[in-house]
Amino acid sequence: MSTHQVVLIRGDGIGPEIAEVTQKVVDATGVRVEWDVVDAGESAMERTGEPMPAEVIDKIRARKVALKAPITTPVGTGFRSVNVALRQELDLYSCVRPCKTYAGIKTPFKDLDLVVVRENTEDLYAGIEFERGTGEISELIDWIRKRRPDAKLEAESGISIKPISVSGTDRIVRFAFEYARKHHRRKVTAVHKANIMKFSDGLFLDVAHDVAKEYKDIEFSHRIVDNMCMQLVQYPWQYDVLVLPNLYGDIISDLAAGMIGGLGLAPGANVGTDVAVFEATHGSAPDIAGMDRANPVGLILSAVLMLRHLGEREAATWLEGAVANVLHDGTHVTADLKEDPHDPTAVGTVEMGDAIIEKVHAHRAHDA
Ligand code: NAI
Repeated sequence: MSTHQVVLIRGDGIGPEIAEVTQKVVDATGVRVEWDVVDAGESAMERTGEPMPAEVIDKIRARKVALKAPITTPVGTGFRSVNVALRQELDLYSCVRPCKTYAGIKTPFKDLDLVVVRENTEDLYAGIEFERGTGEISELIDWIRKRRPDAKLEAESGISIKPISVSGTDRIVRFAFEYARKHHRRKVTAVHKANIMKFSDGLFLDVAHDVAKEYKDIEFSHRIVDNMCMQLVQYPWQYDVLVLPNLYGDIISDLAAGMIGGLGLAPGANVGTDVAVFEATHGSAPDIAGMDRANPVGLILSAVLMLRHLGEREAATWLEGAVANVLHDGTHVTADLKEDPHDPTAVGTVEMGDAIIEKVHAHRAHDA
């Protein structure tokens, strides 16, 4: 049996708590992982003055696989999002977020099984922003006014630029179709607002149509993003794989996470050509950090995706089965999964992890 080398980023807020539990449950599967545990975010900032030290990036590049707990991004001030920087630096262009309901979870959306594929490097996340009141934005506003005299553009504006390219769209839509083929999915739906943003979202839609022609075995459809939100709430079962530009992908994946029972349950993978970084959809939840209240399942299910990526299919099946068992039993789950968040029978992060480990052992023993 080979040993896999994985970088484990402990993150901020609830990050270290859920990272430790996830490491233990993965080890319980018997898969040999040599964990290279590193810090990024606030803790790294305090220690090294850098939220994402170059050494961490180098390690991920070398090992090619990382499991990452969430990292805090201060709003408005402080450092730029480490999460966005990491995706751009390593060109992790696709973000895959499977959204599946497990028995025992409180949600009106039973038997949901959707996959959100979000473009991860372009769009309004490209980091091209101009601050109001600066010299450069005055120049930009003058430039725009000369070319678009009818544009509604006040002098006191801030401007964020939304680039969407043919190559960036081609590779994400192709990724979505390849994913659909590999995972025996029937349909890909592209989501956009091409009726309003004709040159960015319109391009996304045109390229998606072109790529779809090469995948005749998979149905293709498209939806305007606002309609998509309504459709997801009313008729989610019609959808299978969704492919979206960055911002819509961010929003729709949180919506889908809510539909499957909350952020605490939603896993994700950021995948590039060579490197993959696995992380839950949720953030660092500073409101419950250090309280042993965080639900570890989002990161544990991200580790399931990682095990599949590493070719450890059996271990992934055991671990996903163990999570499903614990959710179904409902006796060893964190407060966010209870009807009443103050339910005194809710357990902590560590105890939920231990219950999952016990089930992993049961699956292993059964298949031995
Ligand atoms: P959040 O996802 O951290 O929290 C939203 C709500 O969900 C909070 O009430 C929180 O307690 C709850 N929650 C989240 N994860 C949970 C879990 N595992 N178990 C139980 N409850 C959970 O989103 P928020 O508050 O918008 O962001 C907090 C920080 O996290 C920000 O600095 C943000 O930038 C960062 N963030 C980082 C991400 C990443 O590292 N990939 C992704 C999203 C946000």
